[in-house]
Amino acid sequence: MHVAADMAKVSSNPRLSERVSQLLSNMHLHEKIGQLCQVSGCEGHVSEHLAQQVRDGWVGSVINEVDGPTVNYLQHIAKQESRLGIPLLIGRDVIHGFKTIFPIPLGQAASWNAELVEQAARIAALEANSVGVNWTFAPMIDISRDPRWGRIAESLGEDPYLCSILGAAMVDGFQGTDMSESGQIAACAKHFAGYGATESGRDYGTTNIPENELRNIYLPPFKMASDSGAATFMSSFSDLNGVPASGNRWLMKKILREEWGFKGFVVSDWESIYQLEIHGLTENSRDSAQKAFNAGLDMEMVSTTYREHLEELLETKQVDIAQVDHSVGLILSVKEQLGLFDKDCQSPDTADAFYQQESLDVAKQIATQSCVLLKNHNQTLPINAQETQHIALIGPLADDGFEQLGTWIFDGEPQHSVTIRSALESACPSSVNITYDRAMATTRSYTTDLYSQALASANQADVIVMCVGEEAILSGEAHCRADIDLPGSQMELIEKMAELGKPIVLVVLAGRPLTLEPIIEKVDSVLYAWHPGTMAGPAIADLLLGEAVPSGKLPVTFPRKVGQIPLYYNQKNSGKPATNDQYIHMNDIPPRSPQTSLGMAAIHLDTHFSPLFEFGFGLSYSQFTYSQLMLSQHHISRSETLEVAVTVHNTGDWDADEVVQLYIRDLVASATRPVKELKQFSRVHVKRGEHKKVIFSLNINDLSFYNDEMQWTAETGHFHLWVGGSSATTLQQGFELING
Ligand code: GLC
Repeated sequence: MHVAADMAKVSSNPRLSERVSQLLSNMHLHEKIGQLCQVSGCEGHVSEHLAQQVRDGWVGSVINEVDGPTVNYLQHIAKQESRLGIPLLIGRDVIHGFKTIFPIPLGQAASWNAELVEQAARIAALEANSVGVNWTFAPMIDISRDPRWGRIAESLGEDPYLCSILGAAMVDGFQGTDMSESGQIAACAKHFAGYGATESGRDYGTTNIPENELRNIYLPPFKMASDSGAATFMSSFSDLNGVPASGNRWLMKKILREEWGFKGFVVSDWESIYQLEIHGLTENSRDSAQKAFNAGLDMEMVSTTYREHLEELLETKQVDIAQVDHSVGLILSVKEQLGLFDKDCQSPDTADAFYQQESLDVAKQIATQSCVLLKNHNQTLPINAQETQHIALIGPLADDGFEQLGTWIFDGEPQHSVTIRSALESACPSSVNITYDRAMATTRSYTTDLYSQALASANQADVIVMCVGEEAILSGEAHCRADIDLPGSQMELIEKMAELGKPIVLVVLAGRPLTLEPIIEKVDSVLYAWHPGTMAGPAIADLLLGEAVPSGKLPVTFPRKVGQIPLYYNQKNSGKPATNDQYIHMNDIPPRSPQTSLGMAAIHLDTHFSPLFEFGFGLSYSQFTYSQLMLSQHHISRSETLEVAVTVHNTGDWDADEVVQLYIRDLVASATRPVKELKQFSRVHVKRGEHKKVIFSLNINDLSFYNDEMQWTAETGHFHLWVGGSSATTLQQGFELING
């Protein structure tokens, strides 16, 4: 996953093409500064002011313009009416689909299917490019260990390896092998870096991340994105160890350029350069421009400090023209890679690219594979439609085409959504009576006046399917929660439904892990669907009725209580790790117990130290057993590859997919290592009764980490290795890395 970073300087000066070099040499200073400026579009209208700015060469990029004819007009001005005819980058947040909406990225991550994630990104790029968008601000690859943070919804979860693999897949989907081809757009790895560690899960907060943790946990997905050829990066809003990322030279010069040799360009987040003054890093916007530009931030998103101050900063030699030329060269090179100089940049005024059947099929497939079966008591699922007369469909999210799309869907259209209700009604035979009661106006309602009707319907049913969770607005940017229970009176509704004594299937649509412990014993089955997008209904209906088998695995830990956060699987062992034999619940402590009587371990007195559901967990309708975990050898040298084999046996009654996961632990090292680290995974299809042998291979890079001296290295010594269907797997082997 990680090519050993040569700590020596790596050239990040891409050789400019003849065309770009020639263009650069002909540019006036204000035209160069113009390329470093991204301005906001006017949603389908081009003011004369904006038109003149483009005509005069003061604009390199426009964000949030997606009206095809308007984009065409802007590009026409840039290419035909400006002095040098430099085309525009048209940027948009195409985070999990443009028109066809796929599951939120956290849901896509639950599919553990890089190929599908890449397909989804390719389709999103095709649809966005059809209106002239040529740059997306995705993938968001911030490691997210805190479900209070609203932006966990946009992330690919808590694990560096899974996030790296899926983030690279998105880059490949957006950019393809040749960005100049129609339907490909430039990717943007964001938010560089460490944003997900924001204190208490409040957005835009302070992040204090020791360099060793930054290098081993938060940076790997960005390194992978850089190695995968991501055309651009975006700097984060967040304060990183006292130096906000958007003014952090160590991050954008030493790491990104010198160590990684990144050859694209870096764009700020929305006004994040201007915000350096608010952070208290700079005196004024002039200082902000100087700090950010000299830290390596090439393009300014929407704020105007570069536009206003770079010329003066050049005159006073506080900024070097060579750096300006370097940044302009990087931006022009991306435009050239996109083929913008050779295209007419006039998109066809049609919607043909939207909602193609192939796109909807991929949307349904990834939504199906992203749903995680967390509980299935008494095999309540799947529902046998042939033997069921009445399904009571209950809840505020059962028939809501908007909420199922999730956060960050600027261009999604709810009218194209297929809801759970409509899909179930289509999929069930006419013999099945499906009643539907919303029961609550929204997921945040506290009024219970609709309960009685819902309870009456449910009381007549053979099975109750409750669709609960969070509205889309409760996650995403700046939408953080200090309490992550089901909002409103949903838990009360579940309690009342449980009193009926009927089988209850809970379908949860949410943008984050929720603390389900209060209700988990009240229901028989839980299918966690995240926000599944346009095709939520057909995907969930297939799973509920057994037309598809759940195969999703959690990309993030589910805590029992919010007070456990941060809680993640790849934690350090500490000197007094929690163990069951030392655990005692607060309520079981004898009165007046002496201070030293309790298990002195890393626990909370009022909740068990384990998660409610662990990273990598997910049930199937079938069952899998793992055996014959074999290593090619138990002593390997640095130059050798370790082959790992395991046999997966489908002991259940369903042909099904299983995500086989491989974890290691470096038992002793110069810096403490996590108790488990995901290093490989493979989604395999195993027929009922079949035994399938799965092979992995590990090399020295898989055993390497940044040590106490920030050196990328693998240290000799003993390792444990596990393979299984979740991070809780106990099927273990050991090996030793030896010198040689
Ligand atoms: C937002 C987000 C960023 C997004 C940008 C443009 O504030 O932080 O992820 O790409 O602005 O919308």
